[in-house]
Formats: sequence, C-alpha cells, structure tokens
Amino acid sequence: MKFFVDTADVAEIRELNDLGLLDGVTTNPSLILKSGGNIADVTREICDIVDGPVSAEVVATDFEGMMREATSLAKIAENVCIKVPLTFDGLKACSAIRGDLDRQTNVTLCFSANQALLAAKAGASFISPFIGRLDDMGFDGMEVIAEIRQIYDNYDFDTEILAASIRSADHVKRCALIGADVATVPPATLKALVKHPLTDKGLEAFLADWAKTGQKIV
Ligand code: E4P
Repeated sequence: MKFFVDTADVAEIRELNDLGLLDGVTTNPSLILKSGGNIADVTREICDIVDGPVSAEVVATDFEGMMREATSLAKIAENVCIKVPLTFDGLKACSAIRGDLDRQTNVTLCFSANQALLAAKAGASFISPFIGRLDDMGFDGMEVIAEIRQIYDNYDFDTEILAASIRSADHVKRCALIGADVATVPPATLKALVKHPLTDKGLEAFLADWAKTGQKIV
C-alpha cells in the first residue's frame, strides 16, 4: 500500500519524506488555509520535496472554471495531480484533464460505492472515499472501501482507491487488509504507526543488557 500524507505543512512533509515514507501528498482548500500560505507557492514547495503525486484541488464548481484552474495548477509542477469534486462537472473535468492536460486526477469527496463507480468510468487516477467523515455520521466508512475494492476488481478498473479522512492507525490497518491502493494519512497518525509499547520495552531491555557486557560494536 502506498502512503500519502494528508497535509500542506511543508516541514511535516519534509520530515516524513526524509524518513523514506512518502509516496505522495494530498492537500485540500482547508489544509491550504491551515498552512497560511498561497496555494501556488505551497504546492510548488511540496512538489520540490516529494517525487510522487501531489494533489491540488480546484475550487470552481463549473466545468469551464475547473478546467481553467486545472490548467493553472498543472503549470506549477509535473507531479501536480488535479483534485476535483465528485459532481457531474467534476467528473466531466476529470475526463478532460486526463485527455487534454495529460494529468493525473484525484476525484474527492466520495462517500459511496456508486460515486466511486462513476469516477472510475470517468477515468480517475485516484478515487478518495472519506472514511472518517462517514464514520462521524454513523455510517461504516470501511464498508464503502470494501465495496469499492470489489467493484473495481470485478471490472478491472485501474483507478486507485485512495482511502482518505483517516483518523487512526486502525483505519490504516483495515484499509491495508481490504486492499486499498493508497492511504492518505495525517502526519501524526502516520508517525504513530511505528509505535508499540513492547517495542519500547524490548529495546530498553536490550540496551540495558548490552551496557552490562561492556562491549562496543565499533
Ligand atoms: C483527502 O484528500 C482529504 O484531504 C482528507 O483526507 C479529508 O480528511 P478530513 O475528513 O480529516 O478533513
């Protein structure tokens, strides 16, 4: 499973990229607001750090406006992936962006398997089902991931399932078990994946015993 980080915080992105953990980045208008930066500057800086796809989202809601914004975002860097909302205009833009701009697309704000089916038919590179926001409303976000996996496998769609709105390490594990292609994870959750109390306890014991040997490896 690929790991994307869900943030526009350049310092966090640099740190995770240096750890060799990043396959890409997703941003959205709320994350750009949180970064305090200008979308073009922030996206350019992220693209300079990360080799993989960096999703930047259009904010126009009509097809023509989306295409104008997509054209401008695509000029920022080669690895900008254009994020469009799951609306009919967004799906139309998704097809056109792949055809006319030859760019990867990420169809966002997906909350059902039928929406994901439409995105695949529109040729989306990625579909972003929002797990946490479904869970918040009393639905089962993970069930939607499983349904999409089955539908995409039934028809050999090559759209990648980009599990989004991830809130916990358990979400990441369950997405991997289902076979989501990508998980976009907030930095704190991504860093929490390495943690296990028995790892800390075991390391402490090994180091204490090693000190008693009085040896050095180098
Ligand atoms: C995905 O691309 C979205 O930016 C993100 O995962 C939304 O997550 P949230 O529900 O925590 O805002």
